[in-house]
Amino acid sequence: QLADSLFIVNNFARDYFVQTLHETEEGQNVGLSYFEERGFTEETVRKFQLGYCLNLRDAFVREAQHKGYNMELLQKTGLVTIRNDQPADNYRGRVIFPIHNQSGKVLGFGARILVKSDRAPKYINSPENDIYVKSKVLYGTYFARHAIDKLDECLLVEGYTDVVSLHQAGIENVVASSGTSLTTDQLRLIKKYTRNLTILYDGDNAGVKAALRGLDMAIEEGLNVKLALIPDNEDPDSYVQKIGVEGFRQFIADNKQDFILFKLQVSLREAGNDTAKKSQLVNEIAETIARIDKVEDFTKQQDYIRQCSQLLKIDEEGMVSLVNKYIR
Ligand code: UTP
Ligand code: MN
Ligand code: MN
Ligand code: MN
Ligand code: MN
Repeated sequence: QLADSLFIVNNFARDYFVQTLHETEEGQNVGLSYFEERGFTEETVRKFQLGYCLNLRDAFVREAQHKGYNMELLQKTGLVTIRNDQPADNYRGRVIFPIHNQSGKVLGFGARILVKSDRAPKYINSPENDIYVKSKVLYGTYFARHAIDKLDECLLVEGYTDVVSLHQAGIENVVASSGTSLTTDQLRLIKKYTRNLTILYDGDNAGVKAALRGLDMAIEEGLNVKLALIPDNEDPDSYVQKIGVEGFRQFIADNKQDFILFKLQVSLREAGNDTAKKSQLVNEIAETIARIDKVEDFTKQQDYIRQCSQLLKIDEEGMVSLVNKYIR
């Protein structure tokens, strides 16, 4: 019941923000111009139902109240806050990215500020409520699911705009973790469509760390995980717009690597000549390999044992028994 009401409010807000973007002067001059400057076409803006929230204190909430939407509900969606005892729009002067579930219903919103500021966050996202549970959602699933199924591969990026830009470039099998760590529920969502996951995170430290955090979980879920790191100071959005879609595809093809071997190489480099660190690393890798389902993917597990013991310059038999120690 509450869930249904939240969907109805979000649906109304989505329509309102879309209309504001296209049909008001401020929407066109500020919102649409912003999307244009970022290289998003009209068609893309329409497809993703991108919107704009007027830079006024309470234009949205007044319209919502006028239409009879209940205040408590409006607050639960995060669209409205109470400021100095008065209801106020939460996304004032921001462009709006609706977040859809798999069947296209609006779970919540990401609202981006137009000009970077120290005083306000770049994105304001909907709070969690009965319908929006962050750990279960991947941005873009609704638009990507057919392509993921057909190509039998899911690309995972960090941000909303990465999904939008790649779609526009014709790469449609892509979803975003929206800047948070991957969860088991998100991996299971991907697994409904494919077992092949390719992570395209930023090549900076934060991106690598975020990617590594998801690895063991993804292995445990039986996903085949590959990784291609986007060059420094770029993200998939900026990079595909910079080098074009053919260049981007080529980059992925050339740089896609197996995730377990990637992790091993990164850790080996970090460990250097430190024998204690190296022995800890051997254990970690054994533990990761042990997560591969021995019954379903026996050959795969054998392959990793062979390749990893070579990279680590250790005895393969020793690696086998270590891995067995970790199998539960
Ligand atoms: P990024 O900082 O990489 O943003 O964060 P972006 O997607 O490239 O956006 P642009 O190009 O600057 O417009 C990646 C993702 O992390 C989440 C958002 O989901 C964003 O898309 N994020 C980031 C937030 O939720 N809040 C923030 O303040 C920043
Ligand atoms: Mn499939
Ligand atoms: Mn980054
Ligand atoms: Mn970006
Ligand atoms: Mn980014």
